[in-house]
Parts: sequence; C-alpha cells; structure tokens
Amino acid sequence: MELQVIDLAPYLQSNDSDPTHLDPKLISLCSEVSRILKETGALLVKDPRCSVEDNDRFIDMMEKYFEMPAEFKRLQERPHLHYQVGVTPEGVEVPRSLVDEEMQERFKEMPKEYRPLTPTGPDPKWRYMWRIGSRPSNTRFQELNSEPVIPEGFSEWKDTMDSWGYKMVNAIEAVAEMAAIGFGLPNDAFTSRMKQGPHLLAPTGSDLSRYGKEGTVFAGYHYDLNFLTIHGRSRFPGLSIWLRNGQKVEVKVPIGCLLIQAGKQIEWLTAGDCIAGMHEVVVTKRTTDAIKLALEQNRSLWRVSSTLFAHIASDAILEPLGHFAESPLAAKYPPICAGEFVEQELSAINLKGNKGAM
Ligand SMILES: [Fe+2]
Repeated sequence: MELQVIDLAPYLQSNDSDPTHLDPKLISLCSEVSRILKETGALLVKDPRCSVEDNDRFIDMMEKYFEMPAEFKRLQERPHLHYQVGVTPEGVEVPRSLVDEEMQERFKEMPKEYRPLTPTGPDPKWRYMWRIGSRPSNTRFQELNSEPVIPEGFSEWKDTMDSWGYKMVNAIEAVAEMAAIGFGLPNDAFTSRMKQGPHLLAPTGSDLSRYGKEGTVFAGYHYDLNFLTIHGRSRFPGLSIWLRNGQKVEVKVPIGCLLIQAGKQIEWLTAGDCIAGMHEVVVTKRTTDAIKLALEQNRSLWRVSSTLFAHIASDAILEPLGHFAESPLAAKYPPICAGEFVEQELSAINLKGNKGAM
C-alpha cells in the first residue's frame, strides 16, 4: 500500500492564517491531513523548504559520525544526564514491547501476518540527542542544565544539526496547523501549545554491517510519547507502521518527502480521535536489497534516521481540545501537564529524563 503524499506548498503559500477565510481547496487539503493521520497514524509530506540536499547533508554527517569508533562516540555519552544530550550507545533503549506485558498479550490476538517481531533485548541502535528551539526560563520541568555536546573534529556539527532541526520543526508546525483545521479546531490549537516545547533532534544510527540479518529488530513495536515525530527519507528502508484497522504496512518514503507520525500527545489532545501510531524498525527484504546496493556502490552501511521529536510544551496541559472535550472517550484522557506525562511514560521504559525516545 502506498501512502498518499501531501504537498504543503499550497498551504504555505496562502497568507491567510484565518481558517474561516481559507480557500475551500485548502480546507479539503487540511481535512485530508487529519483523515490520513487518523486512519494511518502517519503522513507523508513534501515541504518545499526542505530539499533532498538538506536531507543528504544531514545524513552524510551522521553517517560519518556513527562510523567513528565506539571509543570516540562514547566521549559524547552523558549517562549522568540520562542521555538527554549527546550520544546513547546501542543496547540502552528498551522497546516497550519487551517490558509491557499487556502489549505482549495483545500481540497474541493479532493475525500472524500483522504481528510485530518480538525483540529479544534492548535496541541495537545508537542515537544522538540535540535540542532544538528555546526552553522556558520559568518552568516546573527544568531540563537538566546541560550544554549541547559537539564531537571533536565536526566543525559543521552545530550548523547542520540546527539547520535540519529547525526545518523539521517548521514542517511539523505547518502540518499541525493543517491537522488542527482538519479536526475542526482553531488553526493554532496545537502550535500554540508547542511553543518552547522540548523538541529533540534524535537521529539514530544502526550498523547494518553487524546487524544486517533479515529479522533483526532495531526498534521494537512501540508508539512515540511526544506530539508528532518527523523523519527525512532513510537510505535503508525498514520502518513498518500499523494502520488503525490493524493492518501492518511497510512504509516507502519517496525521495524528497518527509514522514510524520502521530504520537501519544496528539492522541490526548483529540481524545483518541487520532491515536498514536504503532511502529517498528526491522531489517526486511527491502533493507537487505538496499544493503547489497550500498555494498556495490561502496557506501556507508550505517542506517541513519533523521528523526525529530516535536513536543507539546512541558507546562502546557494535555487534555482533549475544543469539541473533543465532549467525546465519550474524553474521560480516558484526563488533564495532565505534558511534562508530567512524559516523565510517567519514560519511567515505564528505562529512560527517565530522556525526552526523545519512546
Ligand atoms: Fe518511534
């Protein structure tokens, strides 16, 4: 199944931020955005502000970094800061499906062809955490006062990370406005709550020369705890998502497109009208084909994901918005501070303090 691509250009070109004045064509585009997010938990978009070259520049740098010896990368590790910044080595992130017994029970009820692969241990992938955007000076959820970590010898690091990170946040903001309009909410219903959120650029690196066997689980079945997650196209496929109807689909991201996934915070704000998309990253036949091609072309075998986790601000309240407050399911989503929600979710998966991973 091919996911439909939404071109953000017509929306970005319209100067009218008042949705009551929006062109009917744009309103129906916004409805498409919310409908696809509801049905698939994911959305492919094309953002004219984000080029193939931008994605390549970012992935090239991250490949160069992940290819460095483990001893070098461990210099950027900050375990005492709960990996909030710098590198998280492989074997630290634990997939929820490994520790959540209720989830394991649900696997058994799924038809065999749609069942997730069961990981046998922590995820064998590295991750780098880089904060994007400003943080509130006065907050109940102060992030640890930690300086960003820049690896030695990577003079282009800060520029490349910030440039990609801000592009990703901008794309998410456009989608968040369109989704809000599509869901029948004010256009800034989501974006006003994202201001100064703890957004994290958190690319992963998976060594396919060591872990390239079909069936290897890089990220076990899980949902993301943040608002929306966005990635550029990876050079190696492997991500599968579960649609709302329970069907499992391997995602094909066309060149020049970005993939957005619904996280738990949008589920909360819409009282479950849009639920957090379940997904996993596994070495598939398509991944091994891409490995063969990369070997022939003498390219890096590190699978880099250019992931950014966009969050609702920690001090904002997560609760069903607008007409969703009247939903019969609203009681399942009681008001909670976004920061408190994140802490609760993280303590369930061994990553307290790490605001990116899920
Ligand atoms: Fe995820």
